[in-house]
Amino acid sequence: MGAGTKLGTAVVLAGLVLPAGAAAETVRVGVVGPFSGPYAVYGKNFRLGIEAYLSKHGTKAGGHEVSFVYRDLDAPNPARAKAIAQELIVKENVQYLAGFYFTPNAMAAVPLLKEARVPLVVFNAATSAITASSPYVVRTSFTMWQNAVPAGRSAGRLGIASAVTAVSDYAPGIDAETAFRTTFEAAGGSVRESIRIPLGTSNFASVMQRIVDSGVDGVFAFLPSGPATFGFVRAFHESGPRQKGITLLTTGDVVPEPDLPALGDAAVGVYSTYHYAVSHASPENAAFLESIAAVGGQRGEVTMTAVAAYDGTHLLHRMIEATGGTRDPDRAVAAVKGLAWTSPRGPVSLDPVSRHIRQTVHLRVVERSGDGYAHREIDSFPDQPDHGFDVTQPAPAR
Ligand code: PHB
Repeated sequence: MGAGTKLGTAVVLAGLVLPAGAAAETVRVGVVGPFSGPYAVYGKNFRLGIEAYLSKHGTKAGGHEVSFVYRDLDAPNPARAKAIAQELIVKENVQYLAGFYFTPNAMAAVPLLKEARVPLVVFNAATSAITASSPYVVRTSFTMWQNAVPAGRSAGRLGIASAVTAVSDYAPGIDAETAFRTTFEAAGGSVRESIRIPLGTSNFASVMQRIVDSGVDGVFAFLPSGPATFGFVRAFHESGPRQKGITLLTTGDVVPEPDLPALGDAAVGVYSTYHYAVSHASPENAAFLESIAAVGGQRGEVTMTAVAAYDGTHLLHRMIEATGGTRDPDRAVAAVKGLAWTSPRGPVSLDPVSRHIRQTVHLRVVERSGDGYAHREIDSFPDQPDHGFDVTQPAPAR
């Protein structure tokens, strides 16, 4: 029997039999997100969601204290993402990775998971290929396919027979464009033009001109929630398409709640499909918003990323319980496959094949509400899977 096997046995036994009076070892979780810079409100929402969960359910899982180590990454930067994930694994000895706002950053961390035996709980990054790329990835946010397919199904009833798609030119944008076009055209619609906008664009004048020139009834748009979404909605309102009566239909990313007060009337009448609205009426959402307030969050800054982090922390706790605090990624992921629960967003479950969250997607419209603005849910598509999982599976290794 080699030394490795003996060591393995000792580690397993240590996990199962805790000597009387011994303190259970703390399990560390590394959270990567934008905690500074133009997307900082989304990183702040990761933290608010985690803290809201802990304030309600306690900081221990299966008798083990769970501690969260936060690392800032303020933009898509795969090389930095990989270095940060490596540092969390090697120097901080984290057993789990979590967070990740941008797809390119999540994709850069994925190749580390297998060798390090670290599961990753994605709180935002929404390209379908992420969960397909490793059995150690689970995701509690949404995918572009999950929200864009309901948009493609809804466009006809909003009077859109012909459309332009306008998306950010990176992986989630391509997913959104493909999902919308495929669904909309299968329902008899026609996409006349597909505009891809470089990330970082802040002047949308030429995009708006192309939309007006195309003579379509509607635009389907996706950009990652942040400064660009604000600029896009304002430009749509101010520079032509709105005046021509063109309908704007987006994924909910384009009209996040923190932007609504400053967008004001520019956002009114924008349709979107999404899995969570702060205005969603349910006892679970009311309790969630109370626990966000209890940890210092303001209602006006809450976004879907807080809900994804809240539900993601729920999964982390279940995984830590199932593994007795030991490093066992296979058992951890197996323990949450198929899990169903009621989230602040509604009924959800973790699909056992895609390891992505299934949920209700709503068609909403922005309206004036009280002295502010809110999304009003006007239709719902229950139990939506990641429609893109099979489509975007990487080719099997040969
Ligand atoms: C992503 O990079 O996957 C992403 C970021 C922000 C969003 C949606 C998707 O709002």
